[in-house]
Amino acid sequence: MSEMSNMSVDMEMNETPTSVYEPHEWKHGTVVAGIPWKNPVGTASGTFQVDACGRFYDVSQLGSVTTKGVSPVPWLGNPGVRTAECPGGTVNAVGLQNPGVDHYLDYDLPKLKKLGATVIANVAGHCDDDYAQVVEKLADSNADMLEINVSCPNVTHGGMSVGTDPVALSRLMDRLRPLTNKPMIVKLTPNVTDIAAIAKSAVEGGADALSMINTLVGMRIDIRTGEPIIANRTGGVSGPCVFPVGLACVWRVRTALPDVPIIGIGGIDSGKKALEYLYAGANAVEVGGAALYDPTAPIRVALELEELLDSRPQLTEKLAKGDTWR
Ligand SMILES: Cc1cc2nc3c(=O)[nH]c(=O)nc-3n(C[C@H](O)[C@H](O)[C@H](O)COP(=O)(O)O)c2cc1C
Repeated sequence: MSEMSNMSVDMEMNETPTSVYEPHEWKHGTVVAGIPWKNPVGTASGTFQVDACGRFYDVSQLGSVTTKGVSPVPWLGNPGVRTAECPGGTVNAVGLQNPGVDHYLDYDLPKLKKLGATVIANVAGHCDDDYAQVVEKLADSNADMLEINVSCPNVTHGGMSVGTDPVALSRLMDRLRPLTNKPMIVKLTPNVTDIAAIAKSAVEGGADALSMINTLVGMRIDIRTGEPIIANRTGGVSGPCVFPVGLACVWRVRTALPDVPIIGIGGIDSGKKALEYLYAGANAVEVGGAALYDPTAPIRVALELEELLDSRPQLTEKLAKGDTWR
């Protein structure tokens, strides 16, 4: 059956084909920078925590688990108010609150590996030294991949200030690349004029894969006071409203860099949206904010996607080999 003749099949598919709580034999895996995922759906950083999510589903059922950004020492994050609603999404300025890399190595990572998860450790820093310290500590861990977050809009140093500047990104990659043989993903921000130029800089610096998108800068104002709702004033917009933005970023980077593995992120809350990312050229996808209002969303999306992939053999064959649709 051609990939184009699936319309009627898709229209007949159930919204949720199998229970998210039952064990499942995944049929369609993918490969990202040499690391096999049992299905193409993972969790996005900052929207998954092992104790919370593990109460709702078997985390080993996910394609991968990307954990919250970790820094060399514990960070308190930004003061409240940290979140505000917006049409079709959320604005957040959590500010990378986390208990630090040592706690991560003692607690979250061993727990996730014991549960059988494929783990991507997300790395945060305020400066090159911070990133280097974390990467050095994770280099000997059993994390499967590292994801360098150069795209957080909610910290004043590091984060997005690196991911919007090709020179700063090259300097950081020169520092990090020799520290580990683990596959290194660079997570990109959409808050740039030319995301392909930043993507090229990351790959030239030794990135094995790219993930996109992190959140878009946004804000809300309380009309009773005339002041910003969020204490940080601006935050990062995520959710269904950013879906077309993430998709266009994947498309642009895939067009510029035909061979680099890409993880598509942004506004995914259904198998159909995940499939659009795969057709845009992603090797895999991650579910972010949708898991904050429905903790089982990543598993549900994976099950919905599996049903859509059943009738798309050309796409599934490519994904299984680490190739992409385009
Ligand atoms: C509350 C919250 C915390 C986040 N924390 C991180 C983080 O620590 N590191 C990171 O790279 N991205 C972080 N993100 C960004 C998400 O991983 C994702 O890239 C973004 O939310 C877009 O996906 P979505 O629209 O599916 O939520 C966070 C997002 C949210 C909503």
